[in-house]
Amino acid sequence: MALDRPQIPNDLRAFWMPFTANRQFKQAPRMFVAAEGMHYTTADGRQVLDGTAGLWCCNAGHRRPRIVEAIQKQAAELDYAPAFQMGHPLAFELANKLVDMAPAPMEHAFFTNSGSESVETALKIAIAYHRARGEGARTRLIGRERGYHGVNFGGISVGGIVNNRKVFGSLLNGVDHLPHTHLAENAWTKGQPEHGAHLAEDLERIVALHGAETIAAVIVEPMAGSTGVLLPPKGYLEKLREISTKHGILLIFDEVITGFGRLGSSFAAEHFNVMPDMITCAKGLTNGVIPMGAVLTTAAIHDAFMQGPEHLIELFHGYTYSGAPICSAAGLATLETYREEGLFERAADLAPYWQEALHSLRGTRHVIDIRNMGLIGALELEPIPGEPTRRAFAAFLKAYEKGILVRTTGDIIAMSPPLIIEKPQIDQLVETLREVLATLD
Ligand SMILES: Cc1ncc(COP(=O)(O)O)c(C=O)c1O
Repeated sequence: MALDRPQIPNDLRAFWMPFTANRQFKQAPRMFVAAEGMHYTTADGRQVLDGTAGLWCCNAGHRRPRIVEAIQKQAAELDYAPAFQMGHPLAFELANKLVDMAPAPMEHAFFTNSGSESVETALKIAIAYHRARGEGARTRLIGRERGYHGVNFGGISVGGIVNNRKVFGSLLNGVDHLPHTHLAENAWTKGQPEHGAHLAEDLERIVALHGAETIAAVIVEPMAGSTGVLLPPKGYLEKLREISTKHGILLIFDEVITGFGRLGSSFAAEHFNVMPDMITCAKGLTNGVIPMGAVLTTAAIHDAFMQGPEHLIELFHGYTYSGAPICSAAGLATLETYREEGLFERAADLAPYWQEALHSLRGTRHVIDIRNMGLIGALELEPIPGEPTRRAFAAFLKAYEKGILVRTTGDIIAMSPPLIIEKPQIDQLVETLREVLATLD
């Protein structure tokens, strides 16, 4: 381990940390300084089992040689090439590989640098697509309560996590929300819940209210991750697809978490066998190593833009680093790692073990619900009266002390380990949580 930099910086003031309790963190910093496979190494030399694949992104585990080498080689060969009006081969190769592994209707890839940018890109494409077809009144965007679509203005407008929206002003105009799909009657369900398909019918109410001819797209996470792992009820996504098709509304699946094997398939669209018109992805596209995202679209959407004089730009949108050489190299090496090691199949094979291990925590102190699918899962805790989030945050800190990394949102503990996890490591996650919860106030 070549660690020639100081392990603990002597001044923590300047870095304003994202989505972090900054003052709490800086009193007792939690620093990672290295990672390998399923583990992080902390600044004080402890090994921490990664129960969250970093931030739902390191699906192949850490410091994978093929990915590291691809990045090093690319940096030494073509470090950067302009993204507008110029190309380089790896971006084309990655786009081809990506659409090959995605469900069949996805034929084109537009590259971004993050999940948030993928969402903005997809929303803009949706509106511009309708306009290109002569339906310029279709500008409304429909999201869902408790949805997470990143942190940019489009994403927080269609998103439905209140704390991510409420202090940021009036957001985008012309946005409406479907109800979330979390029903008390589905508590303790293993996999997809039975009740709630009817919640998709709220789209008919929204259509009746605004008129279908004003609605461009509906965006949902096929399985809502960041809000605390909410699974789609059986039949729900099918119904959403049916109603959007009926009214000429595009359906966007935000697969920033569910993409790249999390549910045991390439994408959740394949897992649920419901095909959207666009898929947004990021995170696992480069195994979390280099920032990169993508929007996958059908040929119908892409082709609607390919009109007019050929010397003119068809879509006035893009980023300096869209498909940048090092990102593309990382993406190609990542997809190859997934394929070579059969990691999506591995996730599917491990899913039943993961499910039973998680549900063995039923009856543990404070736990009021357990949800799971593929290699993702959540424990919902009873909040401390008047102090929401405090109990789960305390569990997170204790779990970290005891050598496992989990993630909390509200009073929910979420886990999404790298797909290379071994059964004894699943046991370690669950048994550590059992101990932590038993000792928690
Ligand atoms: C469904 C979904 N969309 C968008 C994002 C935003 O991605 P990023 O943080 O890369 O901008 C996330 C991040 O967790 C996500 O889960």
